[in-house]
Order: sequence, then C-alpha cells, then structure tokens
Amino acid sequence: MTATLDQLLDDLGGYLDTPDDACMTLPPQAYVSPELLDLEIREIFEKSWLCVGREEYVPNAGDYFTIDVMGEPVIIVRGTDGKVRALNSACRHRFMPVVQDKGNTKRFTCPYHAWTYATDGRLIGAPHMEGSRVFDKKACSLPEYRLEGWMGFLFINLDDDAAPLQPVMASMEAATKNYRIADQTEVFHYERVWEGNWKLSAENSMEYYHHIGLHASTVGIQMPAKGTYMPESPATDETFTHERCSMGEEYIGGKDHPMNPKGDLRGLTQEELTTGYMVYVFPAFTMAMRPGTNNWLSFRPDGVDKTKILGGYLLWKEIANEDPELARARAEMIEKVNHEDSLATSELNKTVHSRKAARGPLSHFEGTVAQFARYLARTLASDRAPAQRVAAE
Ligand code: FES
Ligand SMILES: [Fe+2]
Repeated sequence: MTATLDQLLDDLGGYLDTPDDACMTLPPQAYVSPELLDLEIREIFEKSWLCVGREEYVPNAGDYFTIDVMGEPVIIVRGTDGKVRALNSACRHRFMPVVQDKGNTKRFTCPYHAWTYATDGRLIGAPHMEGSRVFDKKACSLPEYRLEGWMGFLFINLDDDAAPLQPVMASMEAATKNYRIADQTEVFHYERVWEGNWKLSAENSMEYYHHIGLHASTVGIQMPAKGTYMPESPATDETFTHERCSMGEEYIGGKDHPMNPKGDLRGLTQEELTTGYMVYVFPAFTMAMRPGTNNWLSFRPDGVDKTKILGGYLLWKEIANEDPELARARAEMIEKVNHEDSLATSELNKTVHSRKAARGPLSHFEGTVAQFARYLARTLASDRAPAQRVAAE
C-alpha cells in the first residue's frame, strides 16, 4: 500500500470542486505518509497560528511554562510589564534550555554556565565574559516568537512574517459571540499524546456522527447523533467549519444532569440554548460549546502517527466559582469522553495501515470533514483541481 506524494496531492485536489455531499474520506495513505506530513509541517504548522494554552496558565508576573511547538523549545512567560511573551529557550551562550517545566521566577538562570535572563528575554548577567572580544550583552537576548491572545487563549506562529491572528478568528468570533468565551475559565486541563495521525484526531473532533457509537453511553445520551445538522456554510473567508447537534429534549430543561445548561443564559438564542455547537478553526483548533461551557482542543503532529493534544474544559467563571461540584462532575465526564476519542484514534491508526484499507463515503453529518479536506486541498494542492488538470493536459 504505497501512494506517492503526487498521487495524494491529486486526490486532495479532487476536493476543490467536489460538493460536501459527494465527498469521500481522505485516502488511508494520507494518514501514514511521511512525505505528506513533511509538507503539512512546512506549509501548515510552520506558518499557522497554533494554540499553545491559556493566559490563565500564567496569571502573575514571572509565571511561565515551557512547550515544544513543532520542535521549537518555547517558554511562555508573563513579564513584569504584564505582557505575555513566547521566548526561545535556547541559551544564547551554548544552547542549553534555560528553563524546563513551569513555575514562577524573577529571572531565568541557565543551568550550564549561569547566564541570566530577565523574564522579557534580555540577558542581564554573564559571568566571566569580560575577556571575550565578541561578547555584546545587548545582542544576546532570547529570541521571541510571534504570540497573540484571543479570548483568553494564547496562539503562537513560528513564521515571523505571518499575518496577524485576529482576521483568522474574526468570522468564528462573530458566530460564537453569544457564548461569551472571554468570560470562561478552565476547570479541567488535558494534555496527552494520542496514537494516530493528527488528521485522525482532528476529524474526530469535528463531527457529532460518532456520538451514535463511540459516545453512546457518555455525551451521546445528551446529544444523540441524529440531532446533527450543518448550519449554513460558515465563513466566506473559509477560516473555519462548524456543525450543531440538538440536545435530547430531556436535557434542555431542568433535569439534573451534570451536562445541563447552567448559569445566566440570557443573550443566547433558542438555537444556542438547545444545541451543542462545534467550531473547528483551520488548521488545528476546535471548540465544542454549549451554553456556558467549552471543550477545546489543539492538535500538533508529533511524527506521522502521533498527535500532541492540548485542551481543556471551560466554564463561565460565575458557574466555576459558585458550583465547584458541577465543575468536578463535568471534568469527570470530559475525561471519559476524551479517553473514548483517544482510543478511537489509536484504533484507526492501526487500520489505516492496512493494504486493503479504502476510502469511504462521508455522511451528511460530516460536511465539516469534507470542508477540512478542502482546506487541506486549498493549502497543499490549490493547483490540482481536476478541471484545471484536464485543461492543462
Ligand atoms: S549554555 Fe547557557 S550559560 Fe552556557
Ligand atoms: Fe468524540
């Protein structure tokens, strides 16, 4: 079962002029090809805004955490000026990571030869360097990555010349404004490696169809797959895809289930009150929302068959403060659901390697998956629409 990169890109090109309801899945080889992954890393992950966590992970001056972003060693740190920065952690002397893990500090002291950096990255001390003719303290700050915040989330972009984040989020922000995302706080943090290609993990996060099987005894009870529908196609700028799922009738009103809507529900439309709403912002950020709640995930490939998953569960701050027991119950539920999704991904990861694995048709509950494939096609194979190829021949 081999497919060349060229074949895979031609297959991707097919999505450019195929309507959602006529789309098949990606070819199984798209989930196992190291060549395609290399291209995705170069053209997508090294150029796009990637969610690396939340501002509330670093609430105070000097708070920091470290994260590997596509092989880049990054420190996310709040400076004494209150600004959150993303610094490269490689020491400007001989490359030792100046800090690991997370914590709070006034300065970073490199464990190798004790060069010391301020929390904004400036070098402030370098013992015994006066004998060097090329040492210039000012030229030895830790380099900075592009970092921008959105509604409490932190995104970084490895491309120094990338366009700003805000236009990428604008359409989705308009579609989700009643959910008051900026008023939410994280009550459950999730960070794992899932065994499977990043696209398997991503696709799993963007459709409610699998509630019928995989989550039949968890969130499938509250949001049965049969209630899935695609709202009007989202953004003309194609920055995201979305779908909704009606909640079972007994979960819309007062029944005492930990996943029921709680808190101040004013400002939400009837549709928002009675459905789950999933938005997937290309390339790798998703939020599954209900009134007052938000289950988010961010995906980063870690080799062809592993995915770094970062995520959490958010509640409106007032609910989190007033009802810690509710926060606990919901966290327990989400841990279970994420575990089910993780197991599914590792099962898929085995079978996509099969020599007999073949593309399957997508259901009308999976328009999001078709739109995701089309995003990949626009980004990686924009000149390979079948009509263009015929014209070129
Ligand atoms: S590598 Fe950091 S002080 Fe030498
Ligand atoms: Fe799921």
